Amino acid sequence: MTRFSLKHVYESQQFDLELLDIIFKVADEMKNDLLAKPRLYADVLKDKIMASLFYEPSTRTRFSFESAMARLGGSILTTENAKEFSSASKGETLYDSTSVMCGYADLIVMRHNEPGSAKMAAEVSSVPIINAGDGSGQHPTQALLDLYTIKDNFSTIDGLTFAMVGDLKYGRTVRSLSYLLTKYNNIKIYYVSPLVCKMDEDIKDYLTTNNVEWEEAGSLEKVLPLVDCVYMTRIQKERFHNLKDYEKASGKYILDVEKIKLMKQKSIIMHPLPRVDEISQEVDKDPRAQYFNQAVNGLYVRMALLYLLLDR
Ligand code: CP
Repeated sequence: MTRFSLKHVYESQQFDLELLDIIFKVADEMKNDLLAKPRLYADVLKDKIMASLFYEPSTRTRFSFESAMARLGGSILTTENAKEFSSASKGETLYDSTSVMCGYADLIVMRHNEPGSAKMAAEVSSVPIINAGDGSGQHPTQALLDLYTIKDNFSTIDGLTFAMVGDLKYGRTVRSLSYLLTKYNNIKIYYVSPLVCKMDEDIKDYLTTNNVEWEEAGSLEKVLPLVDCVYMTRIQKERFHNLKDYEKASGKYILDVEKIKLMKQKSIIMHPLPRVDEISQEVDKDPRAQYFNQAVNGLYVRMALLYLLLDR
């Protein structure tokens, strides 16, 4: 097996197919190990400490990382809300906070509102930094668990067609997943969004350079019959500078039981969560709905990452 060569995880462009293969194999091992008696990995990180430093709210990412660390026998330093309860509230810079925190923990999982913050932290940190979301920049571990979920549903990722729907301008999950999909062949992505939150040019240029076909579309109904995976996202009110733009975008794309009738039988419905109204609750019963599986897969993938980054 190729050695896991990364020290930090701050953006999806860091991964190649070999690294993805290692992570997904270890994630499979973690999934099996959680059911095993006795467990092989229960104490594997028992001398390690993970700090979770979240300057923005989170349910899945923070708790799944903390659960992953606990299930590998490690310890956790955490704050409810680093913006308010760390010295950031007194004006401390992220540079200084990171320089201090890396003396207390063996790894830092960081969510911050500024794009590029995790990469900057990685430059000053003596311990691994994992980007748990940097504003509207990237969310690479979400993309890993998304890809792990897609692999679980299809025999191969090559040749799949995707629709990414909703807030593509501020949505870090769709940016990170788009980068990862360039590793595969014959991928097509439809970007379906309100005009005020279209996908940025940098991602579209990257796809073109890496031979991934993409197309922008306004009609979800027209795209649904064409895709293997529809990836819905929330319109992120907190990222809009202009409330009028948010009002133009919200409520435009809603997946309900009528709309999913347009989808292929062997397609899947994904969402990074949290959702507001973009997938109606009745859709949850449909076997194609994968969003709660994504959240569980996040535990296995994050266990794999912690193990690979810390058990050297
Ligand atoms: N998908 C995701 O990042 O969810 P949280 O914001 O709850 O962590």
